[in-house]
Amino acid sequence: MKNTRKKIFIVDDVPANLSIGRNLLKEFYDVYPAPSAAKLFEILEKVIPDLVLLDIDMPEMDGYQAIKIMKADTRFRDIPVIFLTAKDDEASEMEGFDLGALDYITKPFSGPLLLRRISNLLLIEQQKHDLKDYADNLEVKVKEKTDEIYNLQNAILATVTDLVEFRDKSTGGHIIRTQRYLKVLVDELFNWEEYKEEIEKWNMDFFVTSAQLHDVGKIAITDLILNKPGKLDPEEFEIMKTHTTVGVEATERIMNETKEHSFLLHALLIAGTHHEKWDGSGYPGGLSGKNIPLEGRLMAIVDVYDALVSERPYKKAFDHEKACGIIEENAGSHFDPTLVEVFKKVKDMFEKIKNDF
Ligand code: C2E
Ligand code: SIN
Ligand code: SIN
Ligand code: SIN
Ligand code: FE
Repeated sequence: MKNTRKKIFIVDDVPANLSIGRNLLKEFYDVYPAPSAAKLFEILEKVIPDLVLLDIDMPEMDGYQAIKIMKADTRFRDIPVIFLTAKDDEASEMEGFDLGALDYITKPFSGPLLLRRISNLLLIEQQKHDLKDYADNLEVKVKEKTDEIYNLQNAILATVTDLVEFRDKSTGGHIIRTQRYLKVLVDELFNWEEYKEEIEKWNMDFFVTSAQLHDVGKIAITDLILNKPGKLDPEEFEIMKTHTTVGVEATERIMNETKEHSFLLHALLIAGTHHEKWDGSGYPGGLSGKNIPLEGRLMAIVDVYDALVSERPYKKAFDHEKACGIIEENAGSHFDPTLVEVFKKVKDMFEKIKNDF
């Protein structure tokens, strides 16, 4: 509790009551006597008290009217009010509580008991405030920390992504476009009963962002292979295939160092399975059908579309129609046939993303 003395207003039209109250309270509190409700509101314009002791029967404005006005005013709404009154019938007391009073004490009252009830109430109010301050503070702190971590994560991710793109000269923009294609594809997937339930569990921001890391393992591939102008020989292609497992290993290493896994799990599955094929002829696992994580099956379509419409050291860029033709031909062999149907629904948007870039 703060050391500053608490302020209590006491409102009563009988001067003797004001001085009794004042004498009782002044040792512990700063007391502001008010002989009428009008005077109460006058003082309230200048001082916000910690508590108001309010008489009910007063000429002009009575205590019920006064509390109603207080509760209707956002500046005064949260000031605790105790009714201090000679009206000791149940209906009056109920009405007092209904109007928002925190306590109802009938006169004549015992001085020590009144003091105890007041100090209890002020303590509870103080704890309520402290708790709210603490919660507000915590919320701000957590938000700051979360933003910091999010920014750091994005900065590291962007740097790693840049490194991959920088080495792999032929794939400028690949990673950004890939995220946009993936977003379009997965947004459409929400309309398909078959996969809706699974993707509803995903955090879409995490999923789409983590796709940047799908080729992170290419960092480990020698330039001679990565940027070879012609066709890779089988040995070279074997080395190229390791970009999937290297990506998984790198992601696993980060996962071992951190508790935050939901983001990295998408990244790991995408890096590890984007070259698997529906018929089991892909790499590195030779997984088939729905044994290939959905993340990998989605990424496969997006990755190949982008590779097809882009120029590579080993191939020219194909136009959109040809790329779509190749993807559709490979439904059920390379790609999940349902996802190819999904792709067909949104392929115009793929073309737009490709041309916008
Ligand atoms: P990438 O260039 O980003 O290609 C990704 C995937 O797109 C390829 O995976 C393949 O499934 C598909 N793709 C690319 N070009 C064509 C194409 O002309 N026709 C068809 N039907 N599909 C195509 P893949 O084959 O597992 O290759 C993985 C990565 O290995 C490629 O990524 C690229 O970096 C490299 N790579 C593959 N083949 C060659 C090659 O002949 N020469 C060189 N220098 N690199 C290659
Ligand atoms: C979202 O992608 O933001 C909703 C799905 C989730 O967070 O699990
Ligand atoms: C890539 O384009 O992904 C690697 C460079 C190449 O095709 O040789
Ligand atoms: C994964 O962890 O799922 C990637 C390895 C694989 O392709 O089987
Ligand atoms: Fe790849």
